[in-house]
Amino acid sequence: MSLDPQWVRAHFPSVQSSETLFLDNPGGTQVTQSVMDAFNEYFLTANANHGGAFPTSIRSDELIHHARVAFADFLNAARPEEIAFGPNMTTLTFLVSRALGRWLNAGDEIIVTRLDHDANVAPWVALEERGVVIKRVDINTDDCTLDMSDFEKHLSNKTRVVAVGLASNAVGSVNPVRAIADLAHMAGAFVYADAVAYAPHFPIDVQALNVDFLACSAYKFYGPHLGILYGKYEHLERLQAYKVRPAENVPPHKFETGTQSFESIAGAAAAVNYLASVGEKFGAAYGDDYAQFQGRRLRLKTAMRATQAYEKNLFIRLMNGLRELPNIRIYGITDYARFDYRAPTAAFNLDGQHPRDVAAKLGKQNINVWDGNYYALSLMERLDLEASGGAVRIGLAQYNTAEEIDLVLSALQKIAST
Ligand SMILES: Cc1ncc(COP(=O)(O)O)c(C=O)c1O
Repeated sequence: MSLDPQWVRAHFPSVQSSETLFLDNPGGTQVTQSVMDAFNEYFLTANANHGGAFPTSIRSDELIHHARVAFADFLNAARPEEIAFGPNMTTLTFLVSRALGRWLNAGDEIIVTRLDHDANVAPWVALEERGVVIKRVDINTDDCTLDMSDFEKHLSNKTRVVAVGLASNAVGSVNPVRAIADLAHMAGAFVYADAVAYAPHFPIDVQALNVDFLACSAYKFYGPHLGILYGKYEHLERLQAYKVRPAENVPPHKFETGTQSFESIAGAAAAVNYLASVGEKFGAAYGDDYAQFQGRRLRLKTAMRATQAYEKNLFIRLMNGLRELPNIRIYGITDYARFDYRAPTAAFNLDGQHPRDVAAKLGKQNINVWDGNYYALSLMERLDLEASGGAVRIGLAQYNTAEEIDLVLSALQKIAST
């Protein structure tokens, strides 16, 4: 049994109730009814600040703890205290870069990549004010993958941090992060992984990846706007966080600046539980014995494997159609044999048409796609697309269907022939 898009869609009221074709997913996905219910439930039964002696505050703190456990399951972290919440991935990354920056000296080096979203570049470049030297890993422009020999060239005993994404939000390339982490650790550097574009499509195991930090965003995988930070406990404990004095000075609280969006945290936990339910329903086909399904970690892993397999098939259909369009230029991996190493996100241009015009023509037909650089600024500059409006981006999610792929392809066919 494969992932059934109709079963999936039944969980998403906005997908069911509108004529819109949601292919803007790398910018943010739709949310499940259970996520909306969790917001309601929070406001009805637990709306209070952290750490009080009265029932709503106690209930709120319990919900936050349950959410931490849910995300420790989602990322396969060793313990829930390794999970910190924040407004978004960008803010959390600035927080960690500032804290790590306290340990750095002039001449220390940080490696960033030209493939990454600027949220995993700018927070590290900001440390230049401390005399830190930034090294930028180049890409292979033919398939938009990381140039690993360039990475190895930059890595040295001066490297203190390697900041790298698990997948590109623009062109989908998946990076060999475990191999990068092994090399970085041999050089004595920390690894900060951006999983924002990877988390909606693949299982994540922070222990298997052996990264020191990893950040993702719940709004990219069916939850509300919320950032999630994983950090190895020993690092979170040793780092000196930028915090106010009365706030607890223990992980993860010392990294949760100010009052959190508790309702979003409750909503994000509901998104994780929705994914676990996908694992329960559709897992059997992917090799896990149903008898083992009591564990949420296993259900989540199974859900994400099922998602990966389903989206890969859809993506092949999309790529087949895109490749037949006249005057199209597709960026990133197009070889089917390598589709396990890319997220289902396609960036392309139609010759002679501005990406904004293509997106606007699709938008008029209620087909949501993104155009521009989507903050993957260094990549667009490297591909020489920044001055010409970047590229059009179509990104898939669990609730997309083969019929939707055919619809966008036929709309694009008309646009390409005008
Ligand atoms: C790969 C990637 N990293 C980081 C971010 C930033 O995430 P946030 O909006 O949670 O700050 C995004 C957002 O689009 C992204 O796609």
